[in-house]
Amino acid sequence: MIYKKFNQAEFFNGKTNKTYEYNIEDNDINYCIVDIDGRFPSGEGIYALNKECKEMAHVLSGNGILVVEDKEYNLEKDDVVLIDKFEKYYWKGKMRLGLPCSPAWEPQQHIELEFKIVEENDREQFLNLVNHVLSNLDNKDYFIPYSNDEYDSMIYNKNYATIFGAYHKNKLVGVSVVIFDKKYMEEEKPLYDISSTNICELGGNLVLPEYRGLKIASFLQKLSIEYAIKKKFEYVIAMAHPDNIKGCKTLEGAGLNYLKTLKLQSGYLRNLYLLKL
Ligand SMILES: CC(C)(COP(=O)(O)OP(=O)(O)OC[C@H]1O[C@@H](n2cnc3c(N)ncnc32)[C@H](O)[C@@H]1OP(=O)(O)O)[C@@H](O)C(=O)NCCC(=O)NCCS
Repeated sequence: MIYKKFNQAEFFNGKTNKTYEYNIEDNDINYCIVDIDGRFPSGEGIYALNKECKEMAHVLSGNGILVVEDKEYNLEKDDVVLIDKFEKYYWKGKMRLGLPCSPAWEPQQHIELEFKIVEENDREQFLNLVNHVLSNLDNKDYFIPYSNDEYDSMIYNKNYATIFGAYHKNKLVGVSVVIFDKKYMEEEKPLYDISSTNICELGGNLVLPEYRGLKIASFLQKLSIEYAIKKKFEYVIAMAHPDNIKGCKTLEGAGLNYLKTLKLQSGYLRNLYLLKL
């Protein structure tokens, strides 16, 4: 049995949060009180993620919102939420939360990731990530490399593609590319038996090996689909090698439907996926 009084003196002060620790010293569960004042983690596009623990929160006072990936939840006194590990989230408002975590929250299992469009100034980071992932593929057939011109078009040409990136401490750790170049799409669409010209493709799905399994690719796909909806595309297409389980699951998780498996002219075997928006 452990008994702890609220100790005003034991706290950690962040930009938009103040956290009071209870120091229960148990590995299975811990508890703290967090005062949120603004957006936490602070900074547009930044999400928190626990790699190991589930985080429950009970709104003790005040109100605000919790955003978990693409969904927003209004919070008021006495509401309770449970955030699973790997879910990306942020708080916003002015509220006091009672916050148990299981297993006990440890700083090394908690990271903050920034999700944003990759701009020209990150060209080198983008190309480094592509080269690093492609030279460490489990199977060379899992990714059909784009040409250098195509990578440059993705970065420089706003009519060609948009790259969504995940950053950890300003380092680009994952990308997903929405390609909508008209000429490129004209070549792709006969494979999918669609006549519409209003199509985009989800491609360039790449995450650094040390950041895999955190559902970064899954979230980047969600952002890509949201973007495709906003841009009013009629169809989203994508392809993955049938044995590339993670590649296929990422697309299926984003709502794309399996269409067929075929061998491309280039000799690559691919599952084709389609989503009508
Ligand atoms: C494919 C890739 C982008 C996935 O990145 P990631 O951030 O680790 O993927 P996620 O954590 O979002 O997981 C994606 C899905 O695969 C599943 N998954 C992850 N690891 C898995 C494993 N070892 N076995 C089976 N499924 C696995 C996840 O559960 C998730 O599915 P779910 O949403 O149904 O739960 C990454 O592995 C990569 O860069 N691979 C090399 C390049 C490549 O193959 N790109 C894809 C071309 S189509």
